[in-house]
Amino acid sequence: MQTFASTITKVFYGTLIHSVSIKEIEYIKQGLLFINNQGKIAKLVKNVAQDKIECSLEGVDSEKIVHLNDDQFIIPGFIDTHIHAPQYTFCGNGHDLPLLEWLDTYTFPRESKFQCKDYARKLYTKSVARSLRHGTTSACWFATIHLDACKELVDIIHEQGQRAYVGKVNMNQNSPDFLVETTESSVRDTRAFVEYVKDVNATLTHKPLVTPIITPRFAISCNSELLTELGKLAKEYDLPIQSHLCENMNEIGFTMSLFPNSANYTSVYADHGLLNDRTIMAHCVHMKDEELDLMKEKNAGISHCANSNFNLKSGMANVREMLNRDIKVGLGTDVAGGYSPSILEAFRASRTCSVARDMETSLVVAELFYLATVGGARVMELEDTIGNFVVGKEFDAILVNTAVDNSPVDIFDHDNVETKFEKYLFVGDDRNNEKIFVQGREVRLPGSEVASRK
Ligand code: GUN
Ligand code: FE
Repeated sequence: MQTFASTITKVFYGTLIHSVSIKEIEYIKQGLLFINNQGKIAKLVKNVAQDKIECSLEGVDSEKIVHLNDDQFIIPGFIDTHIHAPQYTFCGNGHDLPLLEWLDTYTFPRESKFQCKDYARKLYTKSVARSLRHGTTSACWFATIHLDACKELVDIIHEQGQRAYVGKVNMNQNSPDFLVETTESSVRDTRAFVEYVKDVNATLTHKPLVTPIITPRFAISCNSELLTELGKLAKEYDLPIQSHLCENMNEIGFTMSLFPNSANYTSVYADHGLLNDRTIMAHCVHMKDEELDLMKEKNAGISHCANSNFNLKSGMANVREMLNRDIKVGLGTDVAGGYSPSILEAFRASRTCSVARDMETSLVVAELFYLATVGGARVMELEDTIGNFVVGKEFDAILVNTAVDNSPVDIFDHDNVETKFEKYLFVGDDRNNEKIFVQGREVRLPGSEVASRK
């Protein structure tokens, strides 16, 4: 018979920090966190004095304990609810143009290069590794229209061990000749992609981490027939859906000229069976009241991409209003509209955005940290699986060290756990992310010593 002790693979002892609600960050001091062989949090004991550890171990070998020092703490991994894997190749460039011109000038030519599978492997390896290094343990990826490259992205994510939704992008209209599909090939390749991920998942010995996600780029680049077919595919395979919504005024105007029978932009997706509780809509900067009502009614989620919304001069989304309406919200980097693949940077841009909108109702640290973790989990409909350290959830986490060599964070005598954590949020970066765990396993970054999952 399996005893509790025999199922435990690791125990962390030290400071744990997580969101217990949108208003409250819990600082667990002298915590004992037990991880089992399924990568789940099996037990959590708080305030265990050093000399009392043995009594709380329930027979677990003390060699399995990882003792954290005063400069280290563990937080839930970050959740990036919107990122474009191919766009990492021009991250930091091209912020001179607004959305539609930016797509034509920078994005589409760069994305077309992913028709070459070898190029895709090389670039996607970097893109995923960079995201993981920044502590993103779960990401909602847009790939490109190219089936082979999408498969490479899935393989690379498996090799590196990130939790992910991966979307083969659909584009059959208003797109350049070098980056466009027919309706038929778009649907056929999407189905083939979904089947590929299912087949790969069936070979794994652990619970799958990669889920295909239906990904019409945005309504402008998909005609009504394609949107309808994608809605059907999402239903047939019970898949999540992601797209862009109300990012830029010209985009909205163009969309409404293409879909005059829909009441508004949000309705375009709803009218094609693409708006439900598994839908993630990026941006939502310029939403009418009735569009927010519709998002709430369908229980769809929003990816707030503040960094991108500043760079492309799209506008400043009203996250406070979304939260007041209890709409699910997470943070997105939106690389390369956003110049950084780090959710810490998304956190900071989101704060600046909310302060610039309205100082009185601006988002506070607890709310922003919640959006970066639990909020993202809710948007992905994974709230029962990840987001914080509730017993039974899977252990996706970052071991932060504020005193690594070359740390951007400086710690002084007056600092305590709370101030160290806040410094990490505002001043820290990937150098402080000492270890990253997904489903209880330390992730493998290219060139690192940690064993591959496969
Ligand atoms: N809308 C359609 N495609 C894109 C994209 O790649 N990035 C952003 N930010 N918005 C989009
Ligand atoms: Fe985007």
